Amino acid sequence: MAPSTFLSLLFFVTIFTLTTCKKVTIEDLEPLETGLREYFQTGQATDEFLKTLHSYEFPYLFRDGMEKFYDSAAVCYMCSLVVDFVINQRKNAGVSRETILDEATFLCSELKMEAARVCKGQMELNIDIFLYTIDNYPNFTSNRVCGGFLQGHNCDTGDAFEWTINIPSGNSPERPKPSGPDSFTILQLSDIHYDPNYTPNGNAVCGEPVCCQPDQGEPSGPENACGYWTDYRLGDSPWYLIEETIRQTKTQQVDYVYYTGDIIVHRTWETSIESNTEAITKLYSYFKDSYDVPVYPIFGNHESHPLNVWPNDKILDDKLSIKWLFELAAKHWSELIGEDVSKTVLKGGYYTVSPRPGFRIIGMNSNVAYTDNWWLMYDDVDPYGQLQWLSDTLKKAEDNNESVHILTHVPTGCSYSLKVWNREYRKILERFANTITGHFNGHTHRDEFLVYYNSSNPTQAIGAAFNGASVTPYDLSNPSFKYYHVDETTFNLLDYEEWAFNLTLANSYGSSKLPEWYKLYSFVEAYGVDNLLPSEVDKVLYKMTDDHSLLDDYFKFKFRNGDPGISPGCDDGCKKDLLCDIATTVFGDDAQCKRFLDLYDQ
Ligand SMILES: *[C@@H]1O[C@H](CO)[C@@H](O)[C@H](O)[C@H]1NC(C)=O
Ligand SMILES: *[C@@H]1O[C@H](CO)[C@@H](O)[C@H](O)[C@H]1NC(C)=O
Ligand SMILES: *[C@@H]1O[C@H](CO)[C@@H](O)[C@H](O)[C@H]1NC(C)=O
Ligand SMILES: *[C@@H]1O[C@H](CO)[C@@H](O)[C@H](O)[C@H]1NC(C)=O
Ligand SMILES: [Zn+2]
Ligand SMILES: [Zn+2]
Repeated sequence: MAPSTFLSLLFFVTIFTLTTCKKVTIEDLEPLETGLREYFQTGQATDEFLKTLHSYEFPYLFRDGMEKFYDSAAVCYMCSLVVDFVINQRKNAGVSRETILDEATFLCSELKMEAARVCKGQMELNIDIFLYTIDNYPNFTSNRVCGGFLQGHNCDTGDAFEWTINIPSGNSPERPKPSGPDSFTILQLSDIHYDPNYTPNGNAVCGEPVCCQPDQGEPSGPENACGYWTDYRLGDSPWYLIEETIRQTKTQQVDYVYYTGDIIVHRTWETSIESNTEAITKLYSYFKDSYDVPVYPIFGNHESHPLNVWPNDKILDDKLSIKWLFELAAKHWSELIGEDVSKTVLKGGYYTVSPRPGFRIIGMNSNVAYTDNWWLMYDDVDPYGQLQWLSDTLKKAEDNNESVHILTHVPTGCSYSLKVWNREYRKILERFANTITGHFNGHTHRDEFLVYYNSSNPTQAIGAAFNGASVTPYDLSNPSFKYYHVDETTFNLLDYEEWAFNLTLANSYGSSKLPEWYKLYSFVEAYGVDNLLPSEVDKVLYKMTDDHSLLDDYFKFKFRNGDPGISPGCDDGCKKDLLCDIATTVFGDDAQCKRFLDLYDQ
């Protein structure tokens, strides 16, 4: 979660006035365009321009739902206008880093997109990636920026974002179905977001990307004070919550641990290699000390510095390179896994290992496809050769009669996962559908799942991906984790249990009492199916279209019953959105969503 505001700001122009109901169109943007031209030319913000800017104020731009308010043509138009302004300034007028940084920070702050220090920090952290691209990419145009970052608006992509992977022909051979009684257990932990400075009784209504920080002033009243264990309102995890969670996970015997990414606190405006290294090292070392079974970690989008950005291996500049993170992970992951995975981790932050005969784990770095990964504008073609490697690795697994579990942080299907990457990934999943017997996501902080369908046989479910939800409550959710029961011969998922505690209740006792963890539900019990095979998860979707109360349950589970998350309830529109979210696995491909909505309405 938590997109960086850097680009958002460049495209601030897509903002609407809060008082209008109709969508903003290109014509509405004229005063802004005029003011902008003048500002970029003179470097001076006239009173009139300031007034115009303030009338477009819109905090937290580019969060969910913005498409309801913006006309896509206007969004794309203004995006290319602003980006081309900046490119021209730099290329033709040789404008300095400082000037561009000032302009960006000024616009971000004046538009109140974030608090001033957040604007300043994020611009400072990201500007060099832009300047590097402008300076080193001969034919760089705004298409490479707007076409990717704003893919939801279908802006012109020029010649970017169109490539394919070589996937072997043939079909996924059928494999045996689970039959025996024997199973083993996998623990999935996700999105811890460790906050070294978490401040109980700090300010929980802070107006910044993370609250409960020591430098955010006093809460305005007791109801706005941060809870002891953490806080629903943009609080991350204090260390003692992590210790408590891991203690609880160990009350059941597990065979493997999957950690699906995100270690770093949402204090996104002032990350550093040093502080990220410290947090990452502390958590991995704690995993190593706590579990006597292998732990399989993957990267979250927050592990990089600044967050979200994954430069390719040709970027050698120390200030921009990601080598530090790959080297750090290669060392720790090899220890946690108990096998040397450094070769591919150093290449692109991904790996594969076979923990027992017939079983293979693939750890992906799907963060490269996050549309806030600005390096996509420099090079978007299969970053790190990862998807080609995935296809090749699955082919070998198929040839060796192995079952595979895939771990990826950012799930496919959402508006911020690059379409072309999603499309190719999905093709790979389809080709190897029967080889893949488990698929695990993180990132959304929501307890949810995805169902993938056969593109040549659209009613046939061929895959299901389960989200590990999060340990951090960020936001509105109860901290949680999952135990999966896995068939010992086929490595299919038989069931999972979601464990959580009521954060409202735990905070009412504060430090005087440990949280009361409980099993929130098991998938098989809650939805009345046999196991977690795609065909069974597909049955759940059909049931939901018929028995809408199952969607009420799904909605509550999403937040693990977190009080502020569930309190608005889930009306018809919300239920339909839930169905569509489950069935959409490539952003922009609505076919399955429509199919289920038709069933819902019958
Ligand atoms: C840049 O564009 C020009 C004109 O379209 C083209 O001839 C040239 O090959 C391009 N250069 C690169 C590096 O793509
Ligand atoms: C998808 O459907 C096609 C056409 O019916 C079929 O040949 C293929 O085997 C199916 N894929 C899987 C994974 O079952
Ligand atoms: C392939 O693996 C399955 C278990 O998933 C096993 O039942 C079967 O005997 C194996 N086939 C071969 C040829 O090894
Ligand atoms: C969580 O605990 C609080 C305090 O006891 C209680 O008011 C609330 O109803 C509980 N939430 C749920 C979903 O049970
Ligand atoms: Zn996260
Ligand atoms: Zn994430």
